[in-house]
Amino acid sequence: MNVLVSGGSGYLGQFLIERLLTLNKEINAVHYTCSSESSKLPESVHEQHKRRLVCHVCDFETGAGVEECVEKASKGEYLEGNKNLKLVVNCTALSQPKQCEENEEKARKINAPTHLCEALMRKYGKGSEERVPLLVHMSTDQVFCGSYSNTREDDAREKAFEPINAYGRSKKYAESYLLENYDKNALVILRSSVITGPQPPYRRVDRPLFLDFIAKTCPPNTRGQSAEGEEKEEVKDENAVEFWTDEFRNPVSRIDLTEAIVYCFEIFVGLRRKRDVSAFLFEEGGGSSDSTPIYHAGGPERLSRYDMVTIFCNTMRASKKRAKPAEKSKTTSSSAAAVVKTPADISMDSTKFMTVLRNGVQLKSFQEQVLDSTTVYLSAVLGKTR
Ligand SMILES: NC(=O)c1ccc[n+]([C@@H]2O[C@H](COP(=O)([O-])OP(=O)(O)OC[C@H]3O[C@@H](n4cnc5c(N)ncnc54)[C@H](OP(=O)(O)O)[C@@H]3O)[C@@H](O)[C@H]2O)c1
Repeated sequence: MNVLVSGGSGYLGQFLIERLLTLNKEINAVHYTCSSESSKLPESVHEQHKRRLVCHVCDFETGAGVEECVEKASKGEYLEGNKNLKLVVNCTALSQPKQCEENEEKARKINAPTHLCEALMRKYGKGSEERVPLLVHMSTDQVFCGSYSNTREDDAREKAFEPINAYGRSKKYAESYLLENYDKNALVILRSSVITGPQPPYRRVDRPLFLDFIAKTCPPNTRGQSAEGEEKEEVKDENAVEFWTDEFRNPVSRIDLTEAIVYCFEIFVGLRRKRDVSAFLFEEGGGSSDSTPIYHAGGPERLSRYDMVTIFCNTMRASKKRAKPAEKSKTTSSSAAAVVKTPADISMDSTKFMTVLRNGVQLKSFQEQVLDSTTVYLSAVLGKTR
């Protein structure tokens, strides 16, 4: 079997490729896409995996290269014909909200995988003898309006799913497009919150990761004082960084996301017995009409940005002196006003994700996520002392 990770050169895509390559017996080749030759994974990685790792340069905005990529990823050495492509994970995105705001049309074209969906449906849709591959599409909590806590997939609160920025709108459009045009029995949409983890395995991403940013703001606590002790002291440092106390997210571990995707794949191709769960998971034929392939994929805790700093500092014994709690809703600073509109509370209830796609495994707490990212912290600290 072959799998395709579109946007495989990005943050989540690299972790997925790494994990899928470990499925030696099941997976013949891992294909991935990136936007240009320069973002291809290093030659040494390709060398290490020989013909099991295949790169395709595609432009999701224009569709250039997408059809050819689907064709090549469908071919296999061991199986005749088109039986080989079983899983497509779409991680392609214009994921920087500022860039989306500057060119919303472009964001919509890249973030809604229309060309990929069309190519897959042309090859595997009506009239084809082959079953369509499972398509896992990465969406985001930014599709929520930001006014409610713990949003559920079936939330009926007013305008719960009306995004307030261009990134959210483009991702919402992508969801609707796929629900309309892809096979619902082979589709999973994961609305992820902030993804945490170390730098990805093959190539650093060229933006600061959130935990990286906290680590740079909060160096090791050399006075041996606890973060709680420091909290009582006023933040005097003029370089203090404001962390919002009124913006809520459910940061999620890259491990929970990658394992959920592998689990979906194994269920889809029958490597695991289907669990007897009441929620939707590839119901063929007999699925109830309200079943939806959308899953809220956030971590178990609803945390403000400042809560995250506090947990980080307590876990890593780091100094919180430069982290200043602040309310975004009350700030008058122009830098906060100039940036993209960010929704205040996009916390989510991910019970369905945990029960169905994580097979009942408890999702990783933020403290566990910080520990998973220890290498980020250490590299930031070492970088400073050099
Ligand atoms: N990271 C998070 O915290 C987070 C949170 C919620 C949801 N998500 C969603 O999760 C998914 C993965 O996120 P990520 O952080 O891994 O994203 P990322 O690091 O920004 O990676 C984006 C990928 O898309 C590719 N891409 C961008 N523009 C393209 C174009 N015009 N044509 C073809 N490929 C293009 C990039 O290729 P190049 O490397 O060549 O540029 C890269 O492989 C995205 O859908 C994102 O919206 C992420």
